[in-house]
Amino acid sequence: MGRFSKDSIVGVIGAGAMGSGIAQVAAMAGHKVIVFDTNEAALQKSEAALEKVLARLVEKGKIESVESITSKYTYASDLAAFKDCGLIIEAIIENLDIKKKVFADVEKVVSADCVLATNTSSLSVTSIAAACTKAERVLGLHFFNPAPLMALVEVVPAVQTDAAITAECKELMAAWKKVPVVAKDTPGFIVNRVARPFYGEAIRMMEEGIADMATIDWAMTEIGGFKMGPFTLTDYIGHDVNYVVTETVFQSFFYDPRYKPSFSQKRLLEAGWLGRKSGRGFYNYAEGTAQPEANKDTGLGNRITERIVAMLINEAVDALHLNIASAQDLEQAMTKGVNYPKGLLQWCDEWGADKCLNILDGLYNQYHEDRYRASVLLRRMAADKKKFMS
Ligand SMILES: NC(=O)c1ccc[n+]([C@@H]2O[C@H](COP(=O)([O-])OP(=O)(O)OC[C@H]3O[C@@H](n4cnc5c(N)ncnc54)[C@H](O)[C@@H]3O)[C@@H](O)[C@H]2O)c1
Repeated sequence: MGRFSKDSIVGVIGAGAMGSGIAQVAAMAGHKVIVFDTNEAALQKSEAALEKVLARLVEKGKIESVESITSKYTYASDLAAFKDCGLIIEAIIENLDIKKKVFADVEKVVSADCVLATNTSSLSVTSIAAACTKAERVLGLHFFNPAPLMALVEVVPAVQTDAAITAECKELMAAWKKVPVVAKDTPGFIVNRVARPFYGEAIRMMEEGIADMATIDWAMTEIGGFKMGPFTLTDYIGHDVNYVVTETVFQSFFYDPRYKPSFSQKRLLEAGWLGRKSGRGFYNYAEGTAQPEANKDTGLGNRITERIVAMLINEAVDALHLNIASAQDLEQAMTKGVNYPKGLLQWCDEWGADKCLNILDGLYNQYHEDRYRASVLLRRMAADKKKFMS
């Protein structure tokens, strides 16, 4: 693991949902952890939640005792506590100016070889690194929620990051029993970029009246093999999170129509219909409410699934074309980060690139929208009758 060992102390900034989960992963991998938050109540809440989680892990026989893990923890309300850390992972509010200030402040207290990581989902890691004097030690370590359960970690070198640090962090994540993939510092990294059509194209078909949400959810689960349909899933994620990611990715891609958000989802957010957590989103979760019935027409179901999957494959192929990640890492990201039934490049191979291209070109000819433009790599693979994974 190069510079890291079990003796490396891991500092976590921000004791919210992600910081608490990341700290638990590090402690369970054998590291001493120091958790810092400016909000004392957040620290207390995190500590209480941890005890509950650990008690359940003891019951399941996964760990010996609660103390075996809690004894590795220190909670701090002063950044100076981080002075002996080998790695700091920041998981505070998603705001570039605040993150930059925290990175500049933390750099003043840590040793020269301490690595600084951000868990940002949507900001430029390069901009955050630019706040530091030694920008070469800064990178993104993007965990998924909940961090102790989700295997994927996107390792995101900034433009300035030392390549050796990227490699050592990747090894460290593997030692933490995670599945690390390396992603270029571009909006949405891998998962939050490639997954956009899963939501966007489903909403678009619903808006156009091609099918209602219950039918689209049914098609994507029963025919597509996805664990949840797009409407059920976005209600579960929360429209405050899912819509904001879509809008941020759209803006960050200089308004590429492929990532255009929808008014249907924006209005849900404005209404405070955030999904399950507020009792209503696309679906109404009030007790006793009858749920809409799907139209289980197989022909319609196939058309829905093929349209969304073709758009997803196109995103994965274009990400490969633009060197956002390797083919293998793209497959790992979508199967381990969002639990897709199979990798999108493998899906393309099974279909044949020409089938995917025909669906996209058919949509493009029908709509004349740039949203449906096929990646040049997909076009090339179809012409050469080539496969991605073999
Ligand atoms: N929630 C997710 O699904 C998810 C997934 C991956 C990445 N992320 C990213 O992780 C980060 C944290 O997200 P979250 O959902 O855990 O947020 P959260 O709101 O649950 O927690 C953020 C914590 O940071 C603390 N904080 C705010 N400003 C601070 C500062 N200046 N110094 C120290 N602590 C400060 C807050 O008190 C709070 O406890 C964000 O960058 C987010 O984009 C979130």
